[in-house]
Amino acid sequence: MPAKTARIVYLNGAFLPENEAHLSIFDRGFLFGDGIYEVTAVLDGKLIDSALHMARLERSVGEIGGRLPLTTDEIVAIEKRLVADNKLTEGVVYLQYTRGAEDRNFFYSDDLQPTLLLFTQVKTLEHVAAVDTGLKVKLMPDQRWARRDIKSVGLLPQVLAKRDAKAAGFDEAWMVEDGLITEGASSTAYIVTHDDRIITRGNGNATLPGCTRLAVLELAREQGLTIEERPFTVEEAKAAREACLTSASNFIVPITNMDGAPVGDGKPGPMFNRLRVLYMENARRTAI
Ligand SMILES: Cc1ncc(COP(=O)(O)O)c(C=O)c1O
Repeated sequence: MPAKTARIVYLNGAFLPENEAHLSIFDRGFLFGDGIYEVTAVLDGKLIDSALHMARLERSVGEIGGRLPLTTDEIVAIEKRLVADNKLTEGVVYLQYTRGAEDRNFFYSDDLQPTLLLFTQVKTLEHVAAVDTGLKVKLMPDQRWARRDIKSVGLLPQVLAKRDAKAAGFDEAWMVEDGLITEGASSTAYIVTHDDRIITRGNGNATLPGCTRLAVLELAREQGLTIEERPFTVEEAKAAREACLTSASNFIVPITNMDGAPVGDGKPGPMFNRLRVLYMENARRTAI
């Protein structure tokens, strides 16, 4: 069998084969989870919702008192070069920023050189079975921290929630706090009522402000659809006609089963189908 070609990745100024890219054992991302990440979808070799991801990256880094070593234009140029060098047509570009490396100490030096790592991943995003069959979500207690608006690399609660959801035969976890759904373990959560209202939690510290969410809601608004940005209860979710989730690596997919019971008639619904068409068309039109 021919050897798998090493991906070209970007690390701190250099484009390198993946097996030649090395990080310090003292990197604060590794020791403290002191870092931020972004995942941007790639379709037809182009970046999807790029400006939204760069804006959120700048915000997250700002919220932890960090500084990006490059401008977002320079970062987008790196992403495009990685997509080209790796001949990526469909998948994601992963970006990780950390505060940098120094001997372990909770207190950090202000002059640290940040770490910036980017790599591509091949992934089928568009023609996935979930679009037709829907996903099964398990409701689970939200055990995360109080600043979920920051796209932190500290993802242990999500890793554990997804592990437990998968072990129980589900595809994704929906997190519940005080009887209210916050969001998916790695996605934004929506329900659609029997009278066609789209409900998703408003942005705040309880959830990550999804880039796909921003794009979908803007398109829905342009169509005059009714959107309620507010917390919704487990009971509302279970009584919904439809449910769906969004994320950069799923775009928008329906949820047809919640905690073992069908959502609505257990099939992807008309609102989901409409939003999916709107989103995919817009994603392609605005891709760079
Ligand atoms: C907790 C959480 N919420 C929402 C999302 C969706 O965000 P986006 O649409 O920007 O991918 C993600 C994506 O990873 C996530 O991890």
